[in-house]
Amino acid sequence: MRTNDWAVITGASSGIGKGFVYELAKKGYNVVLVARSRDKLEILAADIEKQFGRETRVIPLDLAHGDFIGELAEGTARLPVTMVINNAGFGTSGPFLENEDLRETEMIQLNCIAVTKIARLFLKRMVEIGRGDMVIVASTAAVQPCPWFATYAATKAFDLYLAEALWYEMREKGINVLALNPPATATNFLAEAGIPTYQKGLATVEQVVRTAFHALGKKPSVIVGGKNRLMAFSERFTPKKLLLFVTARIMKKMIGSS
Ligand SMILES: NC(=O)c1ccc[n+]([C@@H]2O[C@H](COP(=O)([O-])OP(=O)(O)OC[C@H]3O[C@@H](n4cnc5c(N)ncnc54)[C@H](OP(=O)(O)O)[C@@H]3O)[C@@H](O)[C@H]2O)c1
Repeated sequence: MRTNDWAVITGASSGIGKGFVYELAKKGYNVVLVARSRDKLEILAADIEKQFGRETRVIPLDLAHGDFIGELAEGTARLPVTMVINNAGFGTSGPFLENEDLRETEMIQLNCIAVTKIARLFLKRMVEIGRGDMVIVASTAAVQPCPWFATYAATKAFDLYLAEALWYEMREKGINVLALNPPATATNFLAEAGIPTYQKGLATVEQVVRTAFHALGKKPSVIVGGKNRLMAFSERFTPKKLLLFVTARIMKKMIGSS
């Protein structure tokens, strides 16, 4: 990175996004903070300026509704953005037909359509200057279909495949793209997904962020945690039907523990 480089972090107001904000400010980036909660973003911006002396911009946006991309493009037009953490997302859990119609489509809007629009906006700009990095936050739920987490896992499979393909397309243009696949992590995500009391073996935000920086520029995607990497590897050799039965059992336990 160079002095005065900017990073854009979506979903900056909490959890993994907020963890990236602190790490990027520590590395010397100025930061653009994007999420819906203006108050949380303003408090975070003030803390970043105080602790690290970096510049900040707060852009409160709902990335699941309306034409947010024009506002994001305008708000960042004059900034040399060389790092994007394409992270904002949420999940729903439970039987597919019992989930709310609106939540399911909002989730596809946020986890897939917004991620794609944001990738297109900033990768075009990075190509013009010949450098940059983008992390697209997928999930361990992306590496196999997940009954009781069906739409969420499908949105994250989209993110994983998008990021991996972009890793290939962008690498000769001097731009690194990484699909980051966290397992269940200690953030607000699980409560939002309707599994608030699931606490078993959660990863920490610090572990997730550290893994991302370790892998960025080296490979198309990374799974957080050695055990999760091993599981994903073994799933490649498991017949799909068996995999679905095993995953359904794990998911049912996870949801049932709430
Ligand atoms: N935690 C896990 O177990 C886990 C595991 C695998 C993958 N992930 C992925 O990690 C990413 C971050 O999640 P997290 O764990 O950090 O959860 P989190 O603490 O709930 O954070 C989600 C972030 O997304 C923002 N957001 C939600 N809806 C939004 C909208 N419509 N428009 C703009 N921003 C929105 C939230 O801010 P506002 O509410 O202020 O808008 C918040 O900053 C997600 O993509 C999630 O799928 C999480």
